[in-house]
Amino acid sequence: MNLAIVIMAAGKGMRMQSSRPKVLHTLAGMPLLGHVMQASATLQAPHTIVITGHGADEVESYVNAQHPQVRCVRQIPQQGTGHAVQQAVPALPDEGVTLILNGDVPLVRGDTVAALLQACQGQHLALLTLELGDATGYGRIVRRADGCIQGIVEHKDTSVEQRRIREVYTGVMAAPTRWLKQAVMGLNNHNAQGEYYLTDVVARAVADGLSVVGLQATDEIEVLGVNSPAQLADLERRYQARQAWALMEAGVRLRDPARLDIRGQLSCEPDVEIDINCIFEGRVHLGQGVRVSAHCFIRDAVIEAGAVIYPYTHIDGQGEPVRVGQRTLVGPYARLRSGADLGAEVHIGNFVEVKNSHLDDGAKANHLAYLGDSTIGKRVNFGAGGITANFDGAHKHRTVIEDDAHVGSNCVLVAPVTVGAGATIGAGSTIGKDAPAGQLTVARAKQVSLPAWTRPSKSKSKLRP
Ligand code: UD1
Ligand code: CA
Repeated sequence: MNLAIVIMAAGKGMRMQSSRPKVLHTLAGMPLLGHVMQASATLQAPHTIVITGHGADEVESYVNAQHPQVRCVRQIPQQGTGHAVQQAVPALPDEGVTLILNGDVPLVRGDTVAALLQACQGQHLALLTLELGDATGYGRIVRRADGCIQGIVEHKDTSVEQRRIREVYTGVMAAPTRWLKQAVMGLNNHNAQGEYYLTDVVARAVADGLSVVGLQATDEIEVLGVNSPAQLADLERRYQARQAWALMEAGVRLRDPARLDIRGQLSCEPDVEIDINCIFEGRVHLGQGVRVSAHCFIRDAVIEAGAVIYPYTHIDGQGEPVRVGQRTLVGPYARLRSGADLGAEVHIGNFVEVKNSHLDDGAKANHLAYLGDSTIGKRVNFGAGGITANFDGAHKHRTVIEDDAHVGSNCVLVAPVTVGAGATIGAGSTIGKDAPAGQLTVARAKQVSLPAWTRPSKSKSKLRP
């Protein structure tokens, strides 16, 4: 089948009251339009066209970056959904079927749309509809007494009687392309909003003798549109609840499914436990038996089996994913940045920041430390308050600490520098030259005591009586 997909994304989204184009507002961390394009990509249509208009530059740069094979066509000014599809007409083939999607109906699924295309059979006008408890704002499906669809009436144009209709148009339709092109070019704007309504093609189909079929969506979440901040928040919570449910079905123990946010892909092996208010972004994998405590943020990371992430830990592997090895303990209040690569049974404690560093098995940095651009050997103990001074103002340099070294509290390791295996660095040292293996290196001012010294005191004459 010669399938063309038109995604309408030119509208202003007045009800969002935002300077950002509506379709670029995010749901689960991805723009609404991104969700729609992702679902439409599953259909592998030879032509996909996004109609842009309001904030076109921004929307087009998003489309081009994410789906370079998708073409954008501008609609200026925006005079309604019918007018939007008119702009796509020159870009549409003559044969085949055109599928229309609304850029603000983000959670429509590829297989639902495939079922609609099946119902269209290349010759009918197929509409995806839904029965809603509260149909306010939606176009109503008007049926004849015998059940045949007669037309769609927009909410603002409904009569009192029509307003009671529960069956709504979801914004998704499929039609023979040749017929659709003619139908949209013949639309008028004689209605409450003075717009060219795409939905008027339904009455036109009835007049043309083209059969109109309705396919009822089974799942409300798939077809809810986003027109306002409240609807966006509502859909976000429903979507998150859906993801939480799927995780629990797969055996993940969530302390409270209502207090979890996944903005990307979270995969879990058996016996994972997640406490409240955790946010997962990008791609995160949790190995068997991993425990994530309350209030953690984790983006782009692999946490291996048996690791424990204590409360308020921030892990952000954007750019270069973070790895937390088996049975490693992180936090509370720890920060792992991109390229942090922790081996097995590593301990990273409170207020420790790790960036672009490998810590081998059993290494520990338990308190108040910074490890940047470093290679830390097995069982190294990096004391409280220590830092790797990795930046000379122009370039980054590496610090290497070999196996079994102990770095005392409050040390500065000025990179590039190497601390040899089994070396001990005395507390408070500033180390700018390599420290030999197995020896104690201390680099701090010698302690002196002055027995004859007396503390200055204020002269009596200056004291008040
Ligand atoms: C539309 C339908 C309504 C349906 C609802 C489902 C029409 C006339 N109405 O109403 O029957 O129940 O969707 O969610 O189609 N857009 C453009 N150019 C424009 C106007 C809109 O590209 O000139 C785009 C918007 O960016 C949006 C989509 O079309 O992605 C729908 O527009 P919107 O104004 O939200 O239509 P609704 O009032 O929700
Ligand atoms: Ca809408």
